[in-house]
Amino acid sequence: MKLQAVSSEAPPGALELLIALGEKGENGFGGTPVGSDPGKLDEWLDYCAHVATAKPLSDDFAVQTNYWITDDNGFVVGLLRIFPRINKALLNKGGHLGYYVAPAYRNRGYGKAAIRLALDKLRAKGVRRALVTVESHNTVSLSLVKALGGVQEDERIDDETGQAFCRFWLETDCCTKTGK
Ligand SMILES: CC(C)(COP(=O)(O)OP(=O)(O)OC[C@H]1O[C@@H](n2cnc3c(N)ncnc32)[C@H](O)[C@@H]1OP(=O)(O)O)[C@@H](O)C(=O)NCCC(=O)NCCS
Repeated sequence: MKLQAVSSEAPPGALELLIALGEKGENGFGGTPVGSDPGKLDEWLDYCAHVATAKPLSDDFAVQTNYWITDDNGFVVGLLRIFPRINKALLNKGGHLGYYVAPAYRNRGYGKAAIRLALDKLRAKGVRRALVTVESHNTVSLSLVKALGGVQEDERIDDETGQAFCRFWLETDCCTKTGK
């Protein structure tokens, strides 16, 4: 599998993935407008190019790179977001990365492999410890982050939704050091 930066060309399976993700997303991983209107694909691809540019970090803006998670045939099975520098809002909830694998491709190792590659990318950008936040009911993601050596700092409540979430720190060289 690979992480392929989202560009103006959508690879095979991209639209199906965004439709599966929907507009609301799942478990705190945000959806996109394409989820309810497939005609908005090009607009969303432009948006990804826009948010990947290096504006100064502010309370309202953090650079974000979106990556397709693709299988060995280049087919899209998931989506991953990296925020190399986190602002106050992301330090509270959201962290340095978010990940989503389409239901049809879950439990085949894509999620774990994608997080490992994302940690490599963050390390290459100078991030030594990555923050990952996981809703407290999300047992799959909780076990995944713990399996990768994530250390829980605390549990907080989202002011807007009332949803409890856990905040974990992951060493970005955890996988190379320990082979996890
Ligand atoms: C979380 C998510 C990305 C995991 O993706 P995935 O590709 O299924 O994950 P993996 O196949 O790499 O599985 C990771 C581990 O979880 C375990 N797991 C996977 N699905 C499971 C399930 N339904 N129940 C229990 N354990 C499960 C696997 O056995 C694996 O553990 P192992 O490495 O010890 O075998 C995926 O479930 C998802 O997209 N969920 C919706 C969005 C989301 O929750 N994102 C995270 C926000 S913090």
